[in-house]
Amino acid sequence: MTEKMAKAMNDQLNEELFSSYLYLSMAAYFENLGLRGFAHWMEVQAKEELEHAMKFYRFINERGCRVLLKEVRAPETDWNSPLHAFEEALKHEKYITSRINELMRLSREENDYASEIFLQWFVTEQVEEEASVGEVVDKLKLVKDSPNGLFIIDRELGMRK
Ligand code: FEO
Repeated sequence: MTEKMAKAMNDQLNEELFSSYLYLSMAAYFENLGLRGFAHWMEVQAKEELEHAMKFYRFINERGCRVLLKEVRAPETDWNSPLHAFEEALKHEKYITSRINELMRLSREENDYASEIFLQWFVTEQVEEEASVGEVVDKLKLVKDSPNGLFIIDRELGMRK
C-alpha cells in the first residue's frame, strides 16, 4: 500500500472512532431523557463503529503499514429533540459514505486492488447504515411530538440486537 493510501486509511480509522464516540454521546443524551430504547440503539451503533475502526486497524497492519492513532475530536453532547439527533446521525452517515467513496476512488487511482476489495464491504455497509438511520428519521417525523408515538419507537429500538 502506498504511503498516500495508508494515510487515507489511517484517517478513516480515526473517523470511525469518532463515529463511535458520536453515537455514544447520543446514547448518553437519550439516557438522560429517559429514552432507554433509543439509548440502547445508539450503544449498539457505537459498538458497530468500533468494529468498523478495527477493520481498518487490521487491514492497515496486514498490508505491512503502520497504524498511527490520532486525537479523536469531541462530539456534540446535546440535540434539540430525538428527531434532531437522528437527523444529525443521518447527516454524519452521508458524510462517511462520501469519505468511503473517495477512498474507493483513490484505491482505483493507485491501482490498489486489495484496498478496493476491502472497501467494497464498506460501500455496501454504508447503504445499510443510511437506510437504518433514515428509517428512524422517517418514523420520528411521522409521530412528531406525540409522547405515545415516541414510547412505541423507544420500545422498538430497544429490541435492536
Ligand atoms: Fe462506520 Fe456508520 O459507518
